[in-house]
Amino acid sequence: MSTYAEMLTVAERLARAAGERLRARWNTPFAIESKGYRDIVTEADLEAEALILEGLRTAFPEHAITSEEAGADPGAPGMRWIVDPLDGTTNFSRHNPNFSVSIAAVEDGEPVVGVIYDPLRDYCFKAVRGEGASFNEEPLATSGREALEGVMLSADWPRQPELRAELWALVSELMPRVRTLRCLGSAALNMVYVATGWFDLYLARQVSAWDQAAAVLLVREAGGAVGTVSGAPWTPAVPDPLLAATPELLVAVRRVQAGRAS
Ligand code: IPD
Ligand code: CA
Ligand code: CA
Repeated sequence: MSTYAEMLTVAERLARAAGERLRARWNTPFAIESKGYRDIVTEADLEAEALILEGLRTAFPEHAITSEEAGADPGAPGMRWIVDPLDGTTNFSRHNPNFSVSIAAVEDGEPVVGVIYDPLRDYCFKAVRGEGASFNEEPLATSGREALEGVMLSADWPRQPELRAELWALVSELMPRVRTLRCLGSAALNMVYVATGWFDLYLARQVSAWDQAAAVLLVREAGGAVGTVSGAPWTPAVPDPLLAATPELLVAVRRVQAGRAS
């Protein structure tokens, strides 16, 4: 059986290899296809994904894999890799430099290993459950901020208009109380910036397991908390709307939401 440390080593190697491919491709012409409402895929997503999946299958033939473009293999219960080979495809398709690779291993529903790699900045965020999180080998901690005042908020907007309007209503409620709002266009980066303290609070609706699994572990291991606005815990089945923040800010947002509902 592989240790978490061995799994992290392979995940980092593959995230960096995929990142190198994306770095080579992001400012060149590439094919773009629509795969749904407000949803696209590029040749580069598929190239990066093929490279990661081949590496994971070779290193861990006994593990199951879910990857955004390839889907979920049946696999055995237990360990499952959750892969987003290119998070921020819309940015990438416009040669906007905010994108990342996200690879997580989830054991019985809990993220245990996570790597997020930003190839253009050569930023590598890593975590193993119970062993803390790091950014380019330096230990990570959230901002520790407790009050909404001064908060750097980040968000990811759902594709569906009615869900977008719901999230917008909550963000509108928060905006007068926080410092400002930033939206990077990569859910993995938006969320992992809470783990580094660059943001304090992340809000999202309709994000998928591969957008979040690695970042959830990073935020937790950096001392933060992840859950839903309604108070439910995080699961890979993606309860919505999602919150990642310091534990105190999680409570503060839930209070604001409860005030809206009453
Ligand atoms: C998307 C990005 C975006 C988020 C979307 C995701 P993709 O992932 O993370 O920031 O708002 O919900 O689907 O499609 O670029 O991998
Ligand atoms: Ca994604
Ligand atoms: Ca993707």
